[in-house]
Amino acid sequence: MTDTTRPRAADTADPAATNGGGADAPLLELRGVGKSFGNIKALTGVDLKVGAGEVTCILGDNGAGKSTLIKILAGLHAPTAGTYRVDGREVAFGSPRDALDHGIATVYQDLAMVPLMPVWRNFFLGSEIRTGWGPLSRLDVAAMRRIADEELKKMGIDLPDIDAPVANLSGGQKQVVAIARAVYFGARVLILDEPTAALGVKQSGVVLKYISAAREAGLGVVFITHNPHHAFMVGDHFVILRLGETELDSPRAELTLEDLTHHMAGGAELDALEHELARGEGPDGRPAVPHPAPGDGGP
Ligand SMILES: Nc1ncnc2c1ncn2[C@@H]1O[C@H](COP(=O)(O)OP(=O)(O)O)[C@@H](O)[C@H]1O
Ligand SMILES: [Mg+2]
Repeated sequence: MTDTTRPRAADTADPAATNGGGADAPLLELRGVGKSFGNIKALTGVDLKVGAGEVTCILGDNGAGKSTLIKILAGLHAPTAGTYRVDGREVAFGSPRDALDHGIATVYQDLAMVPLMPVWRNFFLGSEIRTGWGPLSRLDVAAMRRIADEELKKMGIDLPDIDAPVANLSGGQKQVVAIARAVYFGARVLILDEPTAALGVKQSGVVLKYISAAREAGLGVVFITHNPHHAFMVGDHFVILRLGETELDSPRAELTLEDLTHHMAGGAELDALEHELARGEGPDGRPAVPHPAPGDGGP
């Protein structure tokens, strides 16, 4: 592929077009979205809005449906219920390419990078700049090195060596390179799947800084994490999923870090358990472990 045209998003995104679009429509909007895999309901009735210049955090335990949700946003899965709108217009993506054409870029946890290739080469992976024509065309190495270097510096990332293989970068730096790449190629929405999950405190800080830089640049960011502290440092809006359903949906102003941590830890369920354990009784006041009745041989 030799597609080097830069801002794909701007070409296709025309908020004023027909089909219910409007200038003040959110970038992305899900209404009543569900996804079933055969008998398994991975998601039910999920509503979500992602605005420009906003970080929306999606939290939830393993199996909550986070990955399924982002795969729908990214065009990898089609929802089995509900609607998906971009700029107020309903969409039915057939592939991640369709989502990308609408400016929706996803950075997965296992980054699509080639470890032994240099940083600049990974920056342009799949969208290489070529020079010359037809069978005589070749990679424009000079242009790609220069642009990758400029773009990374623009985001405040100063890598000692742009020719170093990506494998030499820290986990946080790799995430940041992937973010800078998405921004350069015209992303309006950046979806990050647990970018801090495998990172220590310092490296997580690096990634959180670029999440906030992307927001400052006016992108809509969807930040998936199960760390409420990371979410609260950058989030404007919080959605907690549990077993495929929305358990909490709240703007930052209506929430504290304690609320978020409490919900993530199991919230109400945990309160009940704590109460029960503290008194050594069941919820109805009887002993938690009933004594067997005489003559009851058990199972
Ligand atoms: N391709 C699939 N086929 C069948 N079940 C799936 C598939 N993908 C996810 N699921 C199920 O959907 C539920 C939500 O999974 P997932 O979205 O991966 O959650 P999370 O990312 O929050 O851990 C789980 O019960 C999972 O087993
Ligand atoms: Mg997941």
